[in-house]
Amino acid sequence: MGTDEQAVRTAAIVLAEGKLVAIPTETVYGLAADATNGEAVASIFEAKGRPHFNPLICHVSDVSMAERYAVIDPQSRRLIDAFWPGPLTLVLPLKADTAIHPLVAAGLDTIALRMPRGVAGKIIAALDRPLAAPSANTSGKISGTSAPAVEDDLGARIALILDAGPSEVGLESTIVKVDGDAVQLLRPGGLAAEDIEAFIGKKLERIDQRSAIEAPGMLASHYAPAAGVRLNVHEVREGEALLAFGPVRASGAALAAASLNLSEAGNLREAAANLFDYMKRLDRLGSAVIAVEPIPFNGLGEAINDRLVRAAAPRIPSMTVEQIK
Ligand code: TXA
Ligand code: MG
Repeated sequence: MGTDEQAVRTAAIVLAEGKLVAIPTETVYGLAADATNGEAVASIFEAKGRPHFNPLICHVSDVSMAERYAVIDPQSRRLIDAFWPGPLTLVLPLKADTAIHPLVAAGLDTIALRMPRGVAGKIIAALDRPLAAPSANTSGKISGTSAPAVEDDLGARIALILDAGPSEVGLESTIVKVDGDAVQLLRPGGLAAEDIEAFIGKKLERIDQRSAIEAPGMLASHYAPAAGVRLNVHEVREGEALLAFGPVRASGAALAAASLNLSEAGNLREAAANLFDYMKRLDRLGSAVIAVEPIPFNGLGEAINDRLVRAAAPRIPSMTVEQIK
């Protein structure tokens, strides 16, 4: 489908229904979902076949939409004014209680935001909600930079592909994060680091992307719950908080201090959408241990188990996904 006004309206309608749409941006094509809809966001990971829930970039149509969701410090604001719309993503503190689904930021308290050039902005404005969108390709393959490339790779798994010709930049956006006086480069990309350095009048701090996400985020306090996490539980112990899955309960479930079911129906997409929120909710109740019922490894189950193993890691350092399979 082309990118005229009718196509923009159609894309917004399909996205509002919780379906995936491949959208052109100036960097690469994005596999987009309504960022406020957890199951839609979960289906991005499913369509890409990603074994992990890594945090996704959220796309906005203008600065006021960014301000709805993130706290924008003065230096980030200057970068935004200089480079948006364009291939620059900023990692910013997420405001509390926003409509953005926790799966988008993989449970972190920061959010990566960017304002793309071109038709993507019109779709976001029509939807009036941000779009979570990683590059439109299956996990491990190169990013899609044209509609036919996306069609070849993902066509069977997405509702709609908007064709605006080949991507202008062809490389993902540059990701930066303002940290006090420093500006960190988390991922080099379509906006040259030199251009940012010329604008801010100093060098960017080169930070390893993994450590930027994992050190302050997933493995530290934001990610690991205060409670211990016991995986693959067939017998619940008295006073544990139970994270259940599916229609059949583990024995002793009635002894749990509290329980939440990721998906009564055993639907992994629904479970993925609920995972971060339910972990946090159970953790806040103050039980010493969160007991997690077995979750299958097919489809999104692999990513769910990956995250659960990380959540359990500080107390069970030697346990790997392989061991609990
Ligand atoms: O050009 C692009 O940026 C493309 C197009 C479609 O816009 N999008 C893209 O999105 O590459 P995505 O979701 O694949 O980018 C994910 C990367 C993560 O690997 C991580 O490095 C970074 O964005 N990221 C996302 N949220 C973050 C956060 N809260 N803190 C640090 N890094 C984050
Ligand atoms: Mg990618």
